[in-house]
Amino acid sequence: MSTIQVENLSKVFRITRKEPGVAGSIKALFHPQFENKVAVDSINFSIDRGEVVGYIGVNGAGKSTTIKMLTGILVPTGGHVRVLGRDPHRQRVANAAEIGVVFGQRTQLWWDLAFIESLNLIGKIYQVDPVRYKQLLDQFSETLELKDLLHVPIRNMSLGQKMRAELAATLIHEPQIVYLDEPTIGLDLIVKERIREFIKQQNRDKGTTVILTTHDLGDIEELCQRVIIIDAGKLIYDGPISTIKERFGKYREISFETRASVNHIDVPHGAEIICAEPRKLTLRFDRTVTTASQVAASVMSQIEVQDFSLAEPDLASIIKQIYNGALQTN
Ligand SMILES: Nc1ncnc2c1ncn2[C@@H]1O[C@H](COP(=O)(O)OP(=O)(O)O)[C@@H](O)[C@H]1O
Ligand SMILES: [Mg+2]
Repeated sequence: MSTIQVENLSKVFRITRKEPGVAGSIKALFHPQFENKVAVDSINFSIDRGEVVGYIGVNGAGKSTTIKMLTGILVPTGGHVRVLGRDPHRQRVANAAEIGVVFGQRTQLWWDLAFIESLNLIGKIYQVDPVRYKQLLDQFSETLELKDLLHVPIRNMSLGQKMRAELAATLIHEPQIVYLDEPTIGLDLIVKERIREFIKQQNRDKGTTVILTTHDLGDIEELCQRVIIIDAGKLIYDGPISTIKERFGKYREISFETRASVNHIDVPHGAEIICAEPRKLTLRFDRTVTTASQVAASVMSQIEVQDFSLAEPDLASIIKQIYNGALQTN
């Protein structure tokens, strides 16, 4: 049996449409007009115990909505979800005992309490055995560097400290499944590293199943063997991260700022133009065919260049390429 099973899962939000201004508000009050927003569109996947799956997509793709249906916070408008054999919404209490959820943009801890008081409360709510609790507290303090934070109220913590506290609080009852929705958003690299290390450790030592929502490709590369990519509510890829890396790791992008507008250019071998603006030219090239310096030399022999920069393709551009059929031969 899969740990998480999702079949034709959909969520349509009904939203009121309103014209601007007071007149619009009054009109909407008496003659409400509704609009459907399809946030998740007939998605299928299943996840086994112990997997660490990256659930990725650009802003607004439907990631959080999916997580909320998996955790039972939102009711699907279509399809089915099973988590450990249960309906997460109908069997919310039983489900809650087995899962942990972190939403990167808000805290679930008591704002005014010292962190250790929150943690003690959570331990009691989940009925964590006191001896085990002590062990876990020591372990987590070590990996997440919490020792100096235990007596600090959440409201006085920085974003990175809050997130570390949040993770400890979420995992203190040793849930079988952890949903992490943008856990590293806005954090610096050192905190990100620490958090990734902690997640890896939990997965390795306890076989915790992890669903990680992010638009940080670094999180994915370090943690996940498998990724599910969604775009505009639809699943567009479900498979190993290695395929994505092989397919897209091959490419690099190079952008040129030019002195004058570019009318024509002979495209260097192994490269293609992906963006041409009056004074900016971006090419993508295949690293197995050519090099950045060859492309740059070719472009600079043809037009006058003021500056140029190299970039790795980001998630948005990868998603666009998949959407345009880049993976269809697989
Ligand atoms: N409660 C809601 N009411 C109406 N629309 C919503 C609601 N929650 C999310 N949406 C819309 O659904 C889409 C998906 O949102 P979300 O799941 O939050 O995306 P993501 O987490 O990938 O950024 C967005 O267009 C968003 O505006
Ligand atoms: Mg989100």
